[in-house]
Amino acid sequence: MIAIGCDHAGIDLKPSVIEVLKEMGLPYKDFGTFSHDRVDYPVYGELAARAVASGECERGIIMCGTGQGIGIAANKVHGVRCAICADCYSALMSREHNDANMIALGARVVGTEVAKMILRTWLGAAFEGDRHARRVGQITKLDKGETLQP
Ligand code: RB5
Repeated sequence: MIAIGCDHAGIDLKPSVIEVLKEMGLPYKDFGTFSHDRVDYPVYGELAARAVASGECERGIIMCGTGQGIGIAANKVHGVRCAICADCYSALMSREHNDANMIALGARVVGTEVAKMILRTWLGAAFEGDRHARRVGQITKLDKGETLQP
């Protein structure tokens, strides 16, 4: 199950997100928003992020105007590693190296075709583990409030 969430600025990308999920045969749960009425992006970033952090959803896709605000908000939820992406290379690396479990896109930054390409790349990629697992483990320590310093 893929969590999706957005604010009023990100909603324009939602049909493209759903198109890719359907194309890839991935079920999704839409946490809103559902109209262009102005809302606050942290609310929807949190809803999708908590679904991922709890295990209800394996991954999450969130959108706002830039991807920045909703991505930053999602990253405040323990267990979430949200990559804010505007290109396919970053999206691929965020899965292979960083095991990103969420991706944030900016509807005012990327066009629909670029967004779809980014999502196909991100959803089709796998974490490489190995040395990257150690580093993701260090991120998890920071997430828990621990330090990496001796
Ligand atoms: C809303 O105007 C806009 O600030 C929001 O969608 C997002 O871009 C914030 O990071």
